[in-house]
Amino acid sequence: MQRTSRLVACLGAIALAAVLVACKKPTSPDAHGTPAPASPKSPLKVGFSQIGAESDWRKANSESIRSEAAARGVNLVFSDAQQKQENQIKALRTFIVQDVDVIVFAPVVKTGWEPVLREIRDAGIPVILTDRRVENEDLYTTFIGADFVEEGRRAARFLADATSGNAVIAELEGTPGADPAIDRKKGFAEVLAQHPGMKIIKSQSGEFTRAKGREVMETFLKSPEGPSITALYAHNDDMALGAIQAIEEAGRRPGEDIIIVSVDGVRAAFEAMVEGKLNCTVECNPLLGPILFDTIEKIVAGQQVPKWIATEEGVFTRQTAAEDIKTRKY
Ligand code: AHR
Repeated sequence: MQRTSRLVACLGAIALAAVLVACKKPTSPDAHGTPAPASPKSPLKVGFSQIGAESDWRKANSESIRSEAAARGVNLVFSDAQQKQENQIKALRTFIVQDVDVIVFAPVVKTGWEPVLREIRDAGIPVILTDRRVENEDLYTTFIGADFVEEGRRAARFLADATSGNAVIAELEGTPGADPAIDRKKGFAEVLAQHPGMKIIKSQSGEFTRAKGREVMETFLKSPEGPSITALYAHNDDMALGAIQAIEEAGRRPGEDIIIVSVDGVRAAFEAMVEGKLNCTVECNPLLGPILFDTIEKIVAGQQVPKWIATEEGVFTRQTAAEDIKTRKY
């Protein structure tokens, strides 16, 4: 009798456990209320919406994510938005229909994502932002990327040192409305406010591309204030490299007549520093593949991850470029 009741109790416990498992929401919410996938596919299916291929940085970023996905046997659905927000929104909706386990995207601009992010949340798919942020902090699980404001501050500190606080500056901004364009400008301006001898006299978007950087710099140099420009701050290396061509065509010496600082740290920037044409590059690490897939694995396993996973970056000048270039990975 005693054995029978123990058996009944035991069966009851097993049945209860089974009911609990069955009743458990298909997902367990993480720290930010975004669910982990109910039953992740094998192999894991990840949708990634990339901005485009506008710069060497972007190409290195895509390559890092693609190769890491391949190394881990992840089924990566890669979509190139060709710089258009509407293409990214379409891709994100397609990822929902394709029932991916996790959605990753690098938002081309900061605003305008709320409706699609709500749809993704309703579909129970976690979202990871790489490289750039959106304004809706509650609608993504984590952001993996750099501190763009600090990058702007670092660029300005370099320029203040290199010019002893006296500079007539032209600024090539990134894509209008993009997180790095907004924050790199902000950080730079913050430091400039402490140096009354440093003034930005020209500022325009070069859309993070070499061609546009060259075109805009040419216009700056041909303007009545052009001859007075003594420094250039470009929000990325590609625009600085385009501007270097425009400066040379205008008969001035990049790196000497015009001190140039930009952001990214791509190989071509190191080559320009070795040639003495670029003075400084503030690093922004595009090799996010390994940390991205480590994070995806944690989210899928139901582990909590920080809201911001910051990358570590340095500042490189032409003084050490010949040595530094030997160990560059992108
Ligand atoms: O968001 C990162 C920026 O985008 C990089 O600095 C730039 O090169 C890229 O296009």
